[in-house]
Amino acid sequence: MGKRNNIKRLKILKKFIKPGTVGLEIGVFAADLTVSIFENIEGVKIYALDPWEVQKEYKGRLYGGGYDMNDIYETVKTKLKDRNVEIIRDYSDNVQNHIVEKLDWAYIDGNHSYKYVLNDLENTKLLLKEDGIIMCDDYGWVDKYSGGGVTKAVTEFCKKNKLKNTIIGNQAIIFLK
Ligand SMILES: C[S@@+](CC[C@H](N)C(=O)[O-])C[C@H]1O[C@@H](n2cnc3c(N)ncnc32)[C@H](O)[C@@H]1O
Repeated sequence: MGKRNNIKRLKILKKFIKPGTVGLEIGVFAADLTVSIFENIEGVKIYALDPWEVQKEYKGRLYGGGYDMNDIYETVKTKLKDRNVEIIRDYSDNVQNHIVEKLDWAYIDGNHSYKYVLNDLENTKLLLKEDGIIMCDDYGWVDKYSGGGVTKAVTEFCKKNKLKNTIIGNQAIIFLK
């Protein structure tokens, strides 16, 4: 994501991520967003989860083979040293095995294909406090693998669970209460 878009996104997220809260980021890549959250919102703790693994079946995506994910992982560890962070190198399917405390918010930005986003939504709902907030990046985005992607998953999830949501730019914000 370009610098300008990142600033725009942070401005949106700052409305929903409050100082001193605990959250989860699914899909971290080079931790650009993670670092901006730490630098702009005081006292947060972040669980930062990503497999940092090439997934050859998604050629063309960021994790489809264009980057050395081990290198990226090493950079992330350095960038986040001294931050209040738990770095989790795993796929989001397993997120529940890593987190025991209840979270205030989750930011979903991993595999954007419909079934993965839906699974991330269902799993993170269980990890959040009753009044938690789930945010998803790239609402409206599609590629040849996405099968309806974030948009279809958010729409279905909110309908099934009768949850309110708002779309700001390409960010979907879902309120559990
Ligand atoms: C768009 S990048 C994340 C960018 C980051 N949130 C930011 O804003 O700077 C997507 C990341 O999702 C990760 N990812 C892909 N499949 C995943 C999965 N099943 N579970 C968790 N993360 C996944 C990739 O390794 C990649 O680093």
